[in-house]
Amino acid sequence: MKIVPTIAQAQSHAKKGPRVLVPTMGALHRAHGELIRIARGQAGKNGEVVVSIFVNPLQFEPGSDYERYPRPEQEDEEFCRKLDVDLLFRPSATEMYPENRSVFVEENSLSNVLEGKSRLGHFRGVCTVVAKLFNILQPDAAVFGEKDFQQLAVVRRMVRDLNYKIDIVAVPTVREADGLACSSRNVYLNAEERKQAAVLRKALLAAKDSGKKSAKDIVGLTRTIISEAPLARIDYVDLVDADTLQTIELPGPNSLLALAVFFGKTRLIDNIVLG
Ligand code: PAF
Repeated sequence: MKIVPTIAQAQSHAKKGPRVLVPTMGALHRAHGELIRIARGQAGKNGEVVVSIFVNPLQFEPGSDYERYPRPEQEDEEFCRKLDVDLLFRPSATEMYPENRSVFVEENSLSNVLEGKSRLGHFRGVCTVVAKLFNILQPDAAVFGEKDFQQLAVVRRMVRDLNYKIDIVAVPTVREADGLACSSRNVYLNAEERKQAAVLRKALLAAKDSGKKSAKDIVGLTRTIISEAPLARIDYVDLVDADTLQTIELPGPNSLLALAVFFGKTRLIDNIVLG
């Protein structure tokens, strides 16, 4: 595995065959392992898997967890080595963003709801860094997890609107045994918060199976179940159309139930397609 910290080195790394990118912020866990495994399958025998690790300051709101975001460099490197990653691109913040930078990439519709409403500027940061990674690494495909459903939708829109010739591959959410979605932020949870966080998946499944016929009832049921966990503090629960991400009143075959909930200082997100 080749490790490159600079943009120039990444750009001069000759492409061998189909190149598949797994963009990450590090603190790699089982779900990243699944993204890398899918990337390997997409790249095929002659292709290469590129992982980027970059904790992107632009997508963290002021006062959030940018400073304390886990950065276990050695473990991440080992993780990638074990999974046969071909190239690890691990730039610094100064390498990625010149001091007088003045160009950003902004998606202006899907970004304004759900996460975008709670985390101002978040998707501007995501789009800017993902566009830069695409430009630097020139992948043929890139792999993203469905836990960040809105991110996936925003990146797809960016790829379409800016004419990137890159396939975006979606990977179903990887979960712990009790249903909690794997996330780098789960390490922030103390034992009691971690135990109670399993309520999120329980609430989403119950809402899906309830057969309720209005968004008000579905969202209401989800909120009620989450509230059974005393440490849970709901940021939002919303039923939206999975394509437009706009709030809907009546569930249909393409409805997405999405939520963000705090346990202590840790904000967790999850979603389910009602189908
Ligand atoms: O999902 C993430 O880890 C990040 O948002 C991404 C796509 C690597 C951009 O920084």
